[in-house]
Amino acid sequence: MFRTKSVEDAIATTDEPGSRLRKSLGAWDLTVFGVGVIIGTGIFVLTGEAAGTRAGPAVALSFVVAGVVCALAALCYAEFASTVPVAGSAYTFSYASLGEVVAWTIGWDLILEMALGASTVAVGWSSYAADLLRETLGLQLPAWLYSASPSLTEPNLLAAAVVLVLTAVLCAGTKTSSRVNAVVVAIKLTVVGIVVVAGLFFVRVANWSPFVPPSGAPSAAAEPAPPSLWADLGVPLGTFGVGGVLTAAALVFFAFIGFDIVATAAEETKDPQRDVPRGILGSLAICTLLYVLVSLVVTGMVSYERISVEAPLANAFRAVGADVVATLISVGTVAGLLTVMMILMLGQNRVLFAMSRDRLIPPWFSRVDERTGVPVRITVVTGVVVAFVAAFVPIGELAQMVNIGTLFAFVLVSIGVVVLRRSRPDLPRAFRVPGVPVLPVLSAVASIVLMGFLPAVSWERLGIWMAIGLVVYLAYGHRRSRLAGTGSARATDRHGP
Ligand code: ALA
Repeated sequence: MFRTKSVEDAIATTDEPGSRLRKSLGAWDLTVFGVGVIIGTGIFVLTGEAAGTRAGPAVALSFVVAGVVCALAALCYAEFASTVPVAGSAYTFSYASLGEVVAWTIGWDLILEMALGASTVAVGWSSYAADLLRETLGLQLPAWLYSASPSLTEPNLLAAAVVLVLTAVLCAGTKTSSRVNAVVVAIKLTVVGIVVVAGLFFVRVANWSPFVPPSGAPSAAAEPAPPSLWADLGVPLGTFGVGGVLTAAALVFFAFIGFDIVATAAEETKDPQRDVPRGILGSLAICTLLYVLVSLVVTGMVSYERISVEAPLANAFRAVGADVVATLISVGTVAGLLTVMMILMLGQNRVLFAMSRDRLIPPWFSRVDERTGVPVRITVVTGVVVAFVAAFVPIGELAQMVNIGTLFAFVLVSIGVVVLRRSRPDLPRAFRVPGVPVLPVLSAVASIVLMGFLPAVSWERLGIWMAIGLVVYLAYGHRRSRLAGTGSARATDRHGP
């Protein structure tokens, strides 16, 4: 269970006929990819809930806290990606450092981040799209078509449809997806730019005072303090105050999800050792800066006590009479979320592709289409599953698992960096995390602390999901793995899928 796959072997498998991905991306493509997946629901939607019910104007600090936790992990991802430039990101990294069962655990865990994340965003997208159709074209869709609480007879078909269309784009090839992404990122950045610049004219400094509302202050939605593991363990957190800033950080962490997906595209990058670290760190830096600016502007425009928890950006502009900007924001949100879903699914496909190539899931999945250079089978299967979940599952609370799943992956990747430095000090590392082991250990601890601000029920569900994963591994992957029975890290089973 703890056999590791040597880095040399991992790199060698990327060159096998039938499962070779096309190398077409550069540092710029990766940065744009990163921004395409990172900016989405988090900033357009969650800012309102975070400011109104947890942190007040200090939500800007919550973004900084979440950004720092991500930056620590991003350094670890960057080192790994520059050492093991193979599709699969955290899964591949842990296979090379912590052993097969940990790698499987991570791969299984990443389904929470990417596939569940994509379904969650799709459901949110459907309600934004329906709103936009109503406001701009006067077209009122039946409510069940975009419901967040669907049923077997009334599925959220709008969410399912958008996922299937994006799946078709992904099947057309990574370069095509990358072009679609570039257009959407341009729209998204323009909208964010307009929010910041136009919003500045409406800022009233009095709204920033108190910047950190005192602990226990009443919240916009008059909700009680959100549950968290720390609160259950007796840490007095309450709403607002410093505890509120940290609880809000665990919520807006969602806004950063995706920078790590840049690492899943390592194998499709022309010079991954140089470009993947640039893509990861570059996109994270750009987004953190934008998030802090947007959250300062929005909380300056509207008092946190009256901020909208559903559509904070658009409603802040409506409140000051700038309806045109509000509509532009809605268009930007609907367009912007498209690439969030698309790249979450792209990342999911690459992780499952790597797992299939290693035979931890059936090798049938990792067949690459000759013409497009895309693993079409896994792309279609992922698309159908994500569409199904978005259409039929009332996603509500499950969405919380996206954050905890991602943070858990950060913990293992951070530990993995230290382990691989010890076990393979000889490997060439184009990018090195400074201050090993202190910085990766700090990264792991910071991620665990942030996980503690999530509800205990998310921890329980994470445990259950992992237990199911372990059973699947023992029933299939453990015996079928490429490394099974070889007694070494060298794979002998070279049959094509
Ligand atoms: N970071 C992505 C978002 O905010 C997942 O929607």
